[in-house]
Amino acid sequence: MSETYMLEATGLTRRYGGFTALNNVSFRLKKGEIRGLIGSNGAGKSTCMDVLTGRGRNPQGVVKLDGQDISGFSERERRIAGLSRSFQKTNIFPELTIRQQVELAARRAEMNNSEEILEELSLSAIADRPASDVSYGDQRRVDLALALVGRPKVLLLDEPAAGLTIEESLSLARHLRSLAERWQLTVLLVEHDMEVIFAICDRLTVLHLGEVLTEGLPDEVRSNPEVIRAYLGSTFA
Ligand SMILES: Nc1ncnc2c1ncn2[C@@H]1O[C@H](COP(=O)(O)OP(=O)(O)OP(=O)(O)O)[C@@H](O)[C@H]1O
Ligand SMILES: [Mg+2]
Repeated sequence: MSETYMLEATGLTRRYGGFTALNNVSFRLKKGEIRGLIGSNGAGKSTCMDVLTGRGRNPQGVVKLDGQDISGFSERERRIAGLSRSFQKTNIFPELTIRQQVELAARRAEMNNSEEILEELSLSAIADRPASDVSYGDQRRVDLALALVGRPKVLLLDEPAAGLTIEESLSLARHLRSLAERWQLTVLLVEHDMEVIFAICDRLTVLHLGEVLTEGLPDEVRSNPEVIRAYLGSTFA
């Protein structure tokens, strides 16, 4: 029998007028895998997440979640089916306490797991403070908590560590790695911070000008001359 994948994307494409932002992008993620999606600014990473989640007009390509074809599903239907996402910019309400926001998200997802999620992300001790009152690093963990509340099968994260210190980034990465292992959570992670990427990803897909430049194990990708030329050159000179 052929191996089954938790997320299978085939031929993802998005055009804006005459400009092709994403061209025939395909990849497959195994259950429990953390896949890094990397590439320069404008490579198409956020667009790829939009097309996967059915955001915007006319998402093209086939998306299968746990074997089910969800290509015809709306954004909301995909979320209910188990595809969750966090955005590049923080999505939280500054005036609510952290616990209130997580409870709100749990109610919306018809789940009763807000205390578990607060605990998992080390947010219990600060749960009764308004989100505006905690550090930016803590706010990004709240973002992650909100995306996790529905116990998704697949989590798409768009630069969760943006703006964090190295310690905060690595703490976020550790939480993610541990959750992925214990919950068998499958993650597609867009991140510019290569320390985070190389610390937790099982495999990497590199996008360049809207297309897949290569895919492989972190060490293979790191030493691929094309990747170094197109993206990593400035990071690992
Ligand atoms: N709504 C839009 N209309 C027209 N062009 C767009 C639109 N959204 C994105 N693009 C273009 O599509 C390309 C891919 O953008 P995208 O945001 O997916 O890149 P990215 O890899 O996420 O970059 P970054 O690392 O800066 O977040 C860019 O050239 C961008 O300018
Ligand atoms: Mg982006």
